Amino acid sequence: MTLELGCVLPDTATVDAGGHLHIGGCDTSELAQRFGTPLFVFDEATFRRRASDFKAAFPGATVYYAAKAFQCLAMCRMVAEEGLGIDVASGGELHTALSAGFPPERMMMHGNNKAEADLARAVDEGIGTIALDNLEEIGFVAALAEQAGRRQRVVVRVTPGVEAHTHEYIQTGHEDTKFGVSVEGGAAREAMIRAAGHEFLDLAGIHAHIGSNIFSAEPFAKTIEVLFDLVAGVRRDLGIAIEELDLGGGIGVPYLPEDDPIRLGDFAALIRRSVEEQAVRHGIPGPRLSFEPGRFLVANAMVTLYSVGVVKDLPGIRTYVSVDGGMSDNIRPALYQARYAALLANKAGEAPDRTVTVAGMHCESGDVLLRDVALPASIRRGDLLAVPATGAYGYSMASNYNRKPRPAVVAVREGRARVMVRRESLDDLLRLDEPPFS
Ligand code: LLP
Repeated sequence: MTLELGCVLPDTATVDAGGHLHIGGCDTSELAQRFGTPLFVFDEATFRRRASDFKAAFPGATVYYAAKAFQCLAMCRMVAEEGLGIDVASGGELHTALSAGFPPERMMMHGNNKAEADLARAVDEGIGTIALDNLEEIGFVAALAEQAGRRQRVVVRVTPGVEAHTHEYIQTGHEDTKFGVSVEGGAAREAMIRAAGHEFLDLAGIHAHIGSNIFSAEPFAKTIEVLFDLVAGVRRDLGIAIEELDLGGGIGVPYLPEDDPIRLGDFAALIRRSVEEQAVRHGIPGPRLSFEPGRFLVANAMVTLYSVGVVKDLPGIRTYVSVDGGMSDNIRPALYQARYAALLANKAGEAPDRTVTVAGMHCESGDVLLRDVALPASIRRGDLLAVPATGAYGYSMASNYNRKPRPAVVAVREGRARVMVRRESLDDLLRLDEPPFS
């Protein structure tokens, strides 16, 4: 059976003769029975294929998985197995990666306001690279490295003045952002001079992350141009050679069947061409590249399964289908007006001939997961709703709003299901609460 939502679903998605959606060789109806709902189903094959495709598209590049998209111990292990590095952006992400036994030398640390204790731990543990986000941080990291008695590899995060939106880019005259040091304002050059001059810092490169879910390569090409101008200028004037350009993350993915982000192969070809052109233009060697994809690697690897509850028909207005999760497991519709597709995982063979609005169970009118989505007319309590492409920034941005326990995340592979993150229990919700005051 062909799946209309094939491009947004995990690669292994199929539908059986009974109309059940299968992922990773597992019947989603059985997964829902066994693990409960809401449930994140993580298709290992999709993640692993995206990871190996990305590496193959950029031979010789370092690929850091951006942990903020989705992280847990089992995930860190898979990232390591795929030969990727990991980008951590907080003490918690660092702790998780270290606890999973992820090699510290393959980690990159980010953050516009890194806690001193987290930086100290990162340096002590021997983290591979720290992205310096501001001038203040330079002396601080250098002092930590000196204490540790070693040189710390660093990159300088710069703001190239390229602002990327989903389908277009706007070049801003000034960079109104809390991240990084400005190229245009001269702070980037200053940071590079200072970092290069420190005995205990090894300035390896510069970094730019221009946005997220970007559908075209042009904003990246523009960024490469700006970064090359900076690198060439610093090399010419000061003799500082930069070996690495880190282009951050941001590569877009399809959420809806009509979404058409640039293909990885085309993206890679354009990036390589830009780098070659710029190297020739400036007469300098082409640097090594690195990337930090988050969404690209995990978004389409997961679906969220929900149980359908109340179906409320408002004649002439709309039909609300309420599910047992919502903004606590996917804040993206409420926060970014993000749009998703959906199907009934237990009736995937039925035509989607009724337009409904899928609402969550939270006490907010804005808790709507999908507005005006087509689902089978027979939809009723007990059906299983699957929302694809929830792998990135779904679980990682989940909350306990309304004291809702967070869902489980289950990895599926070749018919086998293993829990990556267990479902929170009601008692888990109380674990930080002190007893009532007497
Ligand atoms: N590197 C840096 C320095 C970043 O700030 C980010 C994302 C990434 C890499 C990974 O970007 P990706 O490849 O996943 O686009 N919560 C938002 C996305 C925020 C992204 C923040 N930074 C969302 O749900 O759309």
